[in-house]
Amino acid sequence: MSESFVLVETRGRVGLLTLNRPKALNALNDQLMDELGAALLAFEANPDIGAVVITGSEKAFAAGADIGAMKDWSYMDVYGNEYITRNWETLKRIRKPVIAAVAGYALGGGCELAMMCDIIIAADTAKFGQPEIKLGVIPGAGGTQRLPRAVGKAKAMDLALTARMMGAEEAERAGLVSRVVAADKLMEEAMDAATIIASMSLPSVMMAKECVNRAFEGSLNEGLLFERRVFHSLFATEDQKEGMAAFTEKRKPDFKHR
Ligand code: HXC
Repeated sequence: MSESFVLVETRGRVGLLTLNRPKALNALNDQLMDELGAALLAFEANPDIGAVVITGSEKAFAAGADIGAMKDWSYMDVYGNEYITRNWETLKRIRKPVIAAVAGYALGGGCELAMMCDIIIAADTAKFGQPEIKLGVIPGAGGTQRLPRAVGKAKAMDLALTARMMGAEEAERAGLVSRVVAADKLMEEAMDAATIIASMSLPSVMMAKECVNRAFEGSLNEGLLFERRVFHSLFATEDQKEGMAAFTEKRKPDFKHR
């Protein structure tokens, strides 16, 4: 059996996925992306999981799509067979929150993978970039679309056209990253955040994620209406009764995730 490129663990209500192709700085090939997609779908289906963390190694979250695999592909290999891109949409289908815990390089597809997650927590060693232009291509998994939404046009153009890397502090200032922490505290911080999220009522967590994502599509009025309807619908859950009762009774809520 071939080596596994994604290590799968469960810690309480948190699913932890570790990209594990260290010799290639976690370069993303079809096997790795297939394993990642399958593990994410399994966590999504598991009622005992409330949040997911994806991480890499100290040196690299992921240094991009696998250049060795891609270098001889033809147009019909990539378009016809959907090599490399076929499993990228799986992460978009995950309704539970996903945190990227990034140390070291997050380049090309690695940066795009992090941006597909809901929150990026970065070690002070993290380096983000879209260097595809140096290879004679462009970002192919959302880099030209999600990066400008996160950091604005000027910085996205700068990164995509010059291929320069952006450090963790710059990434936080620009709004790509939610927190920067010391490298040796990265996993603790990411797991703590995921554990807090997973302790909340799952329906409200999933709906909050859906509503925030709506902010990037359509008009403000449509987004506000969607949020209002979702807010109303949460009054049909047991967890809303429990959460508000617990507050008034000055105790911790005991959410049943329904
Ligand atoms: C395949 C890679 C790789 C990659 C690194 N490696 N990145 N293999 N694909 N993207 C391999 C190297 O070949 C090398 O293998 C080993 O990992 C260590 O890398 P080094 O280059 O020796 O390390 P270092 O000098 O520390 O430099 C690190 C680096 C550099 C700056 C991250 O590796 C680099 O520039 N990598 C490419 C980054 C990149 O262009 N990414 C975008 C890819 S295109 P050996 O066997 O020699 O030890 C892309 C398109 C996305 O992502 C489209 C999505 C659908």
